Amino acid sequence: MARILITSAIPYINGIKHLGNLIGSQLPADLFARYQRGRGNEVMFLCATDEHGTPAELAAAKAGKPVAEYCAEMHEVQADIAKRFGLSFDHFGRSSSPQNHKLTQHFAGKLAEAGLIREVTEKQVYSNADGRFLPDRYIEGTCPNCGYEKARGDQCENCTKQLDPTDLIDPRSAISGSTDLEVRETKHLYLRQSAMKDQLDAWIDSKTDWPVLTTSIAKKWLHDGDGLQDRGITRDLDWGIPVKKGDEDWPGMEGKVFYVWFDAPIEYIACAKEWADAHGKPDAEWERWWRTDKGADDVRYVQFMGKDNVPFHTLSFPATILGSGEPWKLVDHLKSFNYLNYDGGQFSTSQGRGVFMDQALDILPADYWRWWLLSHAPESSDSEFTWENFQQSVNKDLADVLGNFVSRITKFCRSKFGEEVPVGGAYGEREQALIEELTKRIRAYEAHMEAMEVRKSAQELRAIWVAGNEYLQAAAPWSTFKEDPEQAAAQVRLGLNLIRLYAVLSAPFIPETSARMLSAMNTLDTSWPEDVGAALGALPAGHAFTVPDVLFAKITDEQREDWQTRFAGVRS
Ligand code: MF3
Ligand code: ZN
Repeated sequence: MARILITSAIPYINGIKHLGNLIGSQLPADLFARYQRGRGNEVMFLCATDEHGTPAELAAAKAGKPVAEYCAEMHEVQADIAKRFGLSFDHFGRSSSPQNHKLTQHFAGKLAEAGLIREVTEKQVYSNADGRFLPDRYIEGTCPNCGYEKARGDQCENCTKQLDPTDLIDPRSAISGSTDLEVRETKHLYLRQSAMKDQLDAWIDSKTDWPVLTTSIAKKWLHDGDGLQDRGITRDLDWGIPVKKGDEDWPGMEGKVFYVWFDAPIEYIACAKEWADAHGKPDAEWERWWRTDKGADDVRYVQFMGKDNVPFHTLSFPATILGSGEPWKLVDHLKSFNYLNYDGGQFSTSQGRGVFMDQALDILPADYWRWWLLSHAPESSDSEFTWENFQQSVNKDLADVLGNFVSRITKFCRSKFGEEVPVGGAYGEREQALIEELTKRIRAYEAHMEAMEVRKSAQELRAIWVAGNEYLQAAAPWSTFKEDPEQAAAQVRLGLNLIRLYAVLSAPFIPETSARMLSAMNTLDTSWPEDVGAALGALPAGHAFTVPDVLFAKITDEQREDWQTRFAGVRS
């Protein structure tokens, strides 16, 4: 049994995520986690809310709440929606947890001991109107790299370049819009990433199986321009993890906190301790996932994220881990995604554009969305959500192909043989041919899933469903029944077994529906079809079942038009 550690980029606390966020990390991570569990592997799937930094402070201010209270509430909201979307985290933690405070301060102490932190007196933008410094997202302006006018002080959303607030052209305060800004001196800590350039370069070179999208972004930041820059890891903010060296105070850094991008990835680790603590487990239980000296050397660690997160995961976080000199687990495979666009533009949280997770679930159950999003994951390029395309996929793939198959075979069986798997007949040539085709396709599906090729996996799964439909169409038990009821019995028996098989194979994509299929087939047998022929005998003759309700309702043109108008504007 393999052991697989999976993390999804941790979503910012500032509000409910849109479908573009969902398909960019959490949903494909869930697909992979469910698949690996389905194959009998031991999985630890972690995610959390990213609660520090300017996004949290700005959102709390907008909601008129103290930031700690805002974060506690939004964490519950996000946890609830994640659950309703079927995201099967082993733990959904909080980057503001005591565990993360302690671990973040621990890492800072280790990095300081290793001489990898320098104290810098630097110039920061100060807003006279707001009476405070304006780090990161507190400031907006034009990107010096690509000219995008809404770049933030920490990163340009458009070209992914990491920025410093003082880099922005025509800067303004994100709080008040004021341009009455000046530059003042303040002291900060910098992580000496530049000193670790060769080590990081060699580490990335060793990742020969990483997708080009990932390595090219990392290489760009390592080599373009002046090469890898040292990064400020502290901020003049109230909300965050106080700057300390382990348990000790850091002279000169009183009243400052760590930068959100320093503590957020450390939460991947702290989250495992939160999990252990929540279940009353000893430290050894989480350390066997994270410490290579405590059992994690045989763990395979996979990270999922959007492309804008790649520099932090290929450079900054590994710099923290390698720099600590301690035996923490480094990522083995990093799966990154392009952007999903919405109906001719971008999804945008700040502008309320697109469909948000709560709205999606108000309209349709999670599996409809999961299927569309995963089968259109923005892997090799950006992809686009349109209502037409959504309607088409749902109606064709889910309703016509899978739903119809289940409905037809169960209803036919009920009318001719009753609600149990029919007795008699034997699988013949046609069935053998189907078993061969399915075997080929299931092995391909496994390979795609293993490689995290999300779209290809969806395509293969759809082909597996189609194969069953085609079999049913050709075998036509409703005709066979008239001359040869025994043979019809065998055909129907195969069809019913296919429902169980499809439930097992489809569970990573559409877990709720898969559970309904299994419950209709009255079975708890979720064993993976290593041997397809044997798997198609799992439900023996005489086994009772029930006809399930319609699995997927078709989306009507009226509904589509209604939603199209409803979601055309922006969310208030
Ligand atoms: N909150 C960040 C985002 O949504 C992702 C943080 S991932 C972690 O872009 F590595 F920092 F944890
Ligand atoms: Zn830019």
